[in-house]
Amino acid sequence: MARLALVTGGVSGIGAAISKLLKASGYRVVANYFGNEADAQAFHAETEIPVRTFDVADFEATQTGIAAIVAEFGPVEVLVNNAGITRDSSLHKMTLEQWRSVIEVDLGGCFNTCRAVIESMREHRFGRIVNISSINGLSGQFGQTNYSAAKAGVIGFTKALALEGASRGITVNAIAPGYTGTTMVKAVPQAILDEIVADVPVGRLATPEEIARGVLFLVGEEAGFITGETLSINGGRYMH
Ligand code: CAA
Repeated sequence: MARLALVTGGVSGIGAAISKLLKASGYRVVANYFGNEADAQAFHAETEIPVRTFDVADFEATQTGIAAIVAEFGPVEVLVNNAGITRDSSLHKMTLEQWRSVIEVDLGGCFNTCRAVIESMREHRFGRIVNISSINGLSGQFGQTNYSAAKAGVIGFTKALALEGASRGITVNAIAPGYTGTTMVKAVPQAILDEIVADVPVGRLATPEEIARGVLFLVGEEAGFITGETLSINGGRYMH
């Protein structure tokens, strides 16, 4: 049977592109979402990919949500931690809620989902985990102490779990997208976004599909020797 992939935040933006590309490439896909019910229903109507809601920031809800997916579809063999939020503010104005919510979704979400699937991956001696980080976790970004910290944390988390999974056939990698044409990025004030794009050697935003290609590459059966790596897909804007 085709491998089962779970994509968090998988009904819109980069996540939707990942869900669709994995399905088109022969994976069985379940797309997680939280809050954006209308997006989820439209995505399901368009793709026929099953959609399931739980809050990745909520440990118990995530364990219960993934257990229900496993009961219905079988063990999760490919996990893409794509769910993420921004709450941009310079630190001198940032509220504790803005700090916590971004850390809990963008970084805590990786712990909560990985914790729910790792025992089964270890038992089956196979797993592919891809965590979506960000260029801003590598470079830092004005107004994103919360997001840059979470996304840098995702890279450390990826490397540590890669070490733990290596002897069990589990690879864990990160992708650091640059600015991509999604609702999240389009919410950045236009003048700031224009300056950012002017700094991209390729001269434009990424498309969600261009980020999804990286995920497809990393989750392949043949990618078993690539682990603990961070793949930047940023049009040459930041070379580290
Ligand atoms: N670099 C340096 N200085 C900057 C700056 C920057 N990027 N942005 C603003 N400033 C300066 C302003 O010119 C202003 O200077 P003066 O005080 O001398 O006039 C000062 O900083 C304003 O500071 P404030 O703290 O008052 O900033 P603000 O409240 O007006 O705006 C902000 C802060 C809302 C964070 C705004 O800068 C912003 O929206 N920035 C964009 C952040 C961004 O790129 N987010 C990415 C979202 S998409 C994403 O995250 C996806 C992904 O992975 C790439």
